Amino acid sequence: MNAFFNEDHEALRQLARDFAERELEPIAHEIDEEEYFPVEVFNEMAEMGFFGLKIPEEYGGSGLDARAYVCVMEELSKKCVSAAVLVSAANTLGCEPLLLAGTEEQKNKYLPQVASGEAFIAFGLTEPNAGSDAGSMTTRAEEDGDDYIINGRKCFITGAPFAKYCMVFAKTDPEKGAKGISCFFVDMSLPGVSIGKNEDKMGQRAIATSDVILEDVRVPKSEMLGEVNLGFITAMKTLSMGRIGVGCQSIGLAQGAMDLAVKHIKERKQFGRRLCDFQAIQFEMAKLETKLNAARLLVYNAAFEKDMGNDVTKAAAMAKFFASETCLEVVSGCLQMFGGYGYSKEYPIERLYRDARVLTIYEGTSQIQQIVIAGQMLK
Ligand code: CAA
Repeated sequence: MNAFFNEDHEALRQLARDFAERELEPIAHEIDEEEYFPVEVFNEMAEMGFFGLKIPEEYGGSGLDARAYVCVMEELSKKCVSAAVLVSAANTLGCEPLLLAGTEEQKNKYLPQVASGEAFIAFGLTEPNAGSDAGSMTTRAEEDGDDYIINGRKCFITGAPFAKYCMVFAKTDPEKGAKGISCFFVDMSLPGVSIGKNEDKMGQRAIATSDVILEDVRVPKSEMLGEVNLGFITAMKTLSMGRIGVGCQSIGLAQGAMDLAVKHIKERKQFGRRLCDFQAIQFEMAKLETKLNAARLLVYNAAFEKDMGNDVTKAAAMAKFFASETCLEVVSGCLQMFGGYGYSKEYPIERLYRDARVLTIYEGTSQIQQIVIAGQMLK
């Protein structure tokens, strides 16, 4: 226990740790190779309540705080970051816009489905020519009677191939740039919605990612989330919470790599001594451990600030920026301890290295996090 967590948090952490060791660790290698996430494990995660941690009880969730979410995310990420991505998507990108801007009817319709695992909601912000510059999207939603007609293409959409719905951000007033974007709930089975090919990604291969193509998709006005032209702000606020989730993935994955490296250097002998008896190795481990702990404190602090009801734009960006960069350093350093074995797919550290690489990219690159941090400092 530490200053950030109470006994309930720690009990939940233990539950998630047991689950990760029992259900995720044994399959992590295979699901990366086979590029699928088993439905049975997804359903078990739903039964454990992992998808509704932050969803209020009246909408079928557990109504827990951000720190509870952090405990679960960190533990799952130690063994299988792909599983944590599902939890992250459900608790932040998939439900935060609803919690921030949804009507009572929309919350009642969608949140129980997310909490129970019945529906996965994808987050459709990025486009082929609008990544970091999200406000320059060209997907268009035009009013037509009681509906909007949406046309455009979203890319790198996590979970799109198995999503039941997609939260689509589209221009309703293109002249106004970021201030002319609205958010729509799009049922993936609607006529005109299709998905692209599964991206052949470097890591996190168990979770399918693809384009979402929208061709004259007719969406009732009742499926607009929040007010017209305020979608960008909803997206930005959602990403703040999402970035805490990526921070959790980073510290969890890095700890997973450290655990593997510590075990390895205690066993492996070269020049007649265990690797851990070399001071050069000890210094490297001490440096990585210190950075990892600093990253962990930034992530815990961002969640704590969220629970205190404070604006976390800066805290979340700092947590995501530092934790993801640190994770790359830790995983690379740990892989180095394995020498040639670290480069072999027979050792899990190779997968962790690939899984980690996107952490400084998705939900806002490190460069974007620095823009957000500086923007908050200098406003
Ligand atoms: N809260 C409230 N309002 C906010 C806000 C926030 N966090 N961030 C911005 N706004 C407001 C601004 O105040 C501004 O309004 P005013 O002019 O009235 O002040 C308005 O929104 C526009 O903001 P900016 O002028 O700052 O917008 P910008 O176009 O310059 O972009 C940016 C800012 C921070 C670079 C933003 O575009 C950004 O975050 N880009 C990164 C996008 C990103 O993270 N993409 C990840 C996609 S999701 C994903 O990766 C998940 C997956 O599935 C893999």
